[in-house]
Amino acid sequence: MIIERADANDLGVILTLRTEASEWLAQRGIKQWAVAWPTPEEQNRRILASIEAGETWMIRDENEATMATVALDTFSDPRLWTPEEQADPAMYLHRLIVRRKHAGLGTEIMDWACHRAHRLGLHWLRIDVWTDNTGLHDYYLRNGFKHVRTLNLADYPSGALFQRATSQPG
Ligand SMILES: CC(C)(COP(=O)(O)OP(=O)(O)OC[C@H]1O[C@@H](n2cnc3c(N)ncnc32)[C@H](O)[C@@H]1OP(=O)(O)O)[C@@H](O)C(=O)NCCC(=O)NCCS
Repeated sequence: MIIERADANDLGVILTLRTEASEWLAQRGIKQWAVAWPTPEEQNRRILASIEAGETWMIRDENEATMATVALDTFSDPRLWTPEEQADPAMYLHRLIVRRKHAGLGTEIMDWACHRAHRLGLHWLRIDVWTDNTGLHDYYLRNGFKHVRTLNLADYPSGALFQRATSQPG
């Protein structure tokens, strides 16, 4: 698995992965990602800004085919995390998508993210997850994350907060 920073040419690939994922979820009756949040334009702008900041990563095979993507940054959203949590250095994981034919790769990607955060002196790998998607919550719990709390925010769909100590090897 080759992990490299995304560039602007990857925007279309990332949007395709997202569409594939939302269709797969919809087939299973899961509404997460059924619509772009808050709008398609704003979603694309956010992804592009993350690419330009060097914070989006592409996971490819030896033939350069994309297997997965993930974004990592250090912005602690004050709507979600308390001042004490914000003061404790952390890396925030977003937009993790693994293509269906590579299912199983997510664990390895999160281990890599944890090691990277640890090397950078960050204590936590944190994620905000779709508020009522308990299947996905269980997935993160199985991957070494602990539930921090769940916020029911009217204007933000991902209020279930999880974190994993970066010192905890995968
Ligand atoms: C979540 C994801 C990255 C995990 O990838 P992975 O570690 O390679 O593992 P898998 O794809 O095999 O998924 C692991 C399990 O979680 C379940 N799962 C994955 N995404 C889910 C979701 N969004 N909602 C509910 N369950 C989900 C899978 O069905 C699978 O369940 P199973 O073990 O009973 O078969 C990948 O499934 C994915 O891209 N999902 C869609 C996008 C998404 O939800 N990303 C996370 C955003 S916070």
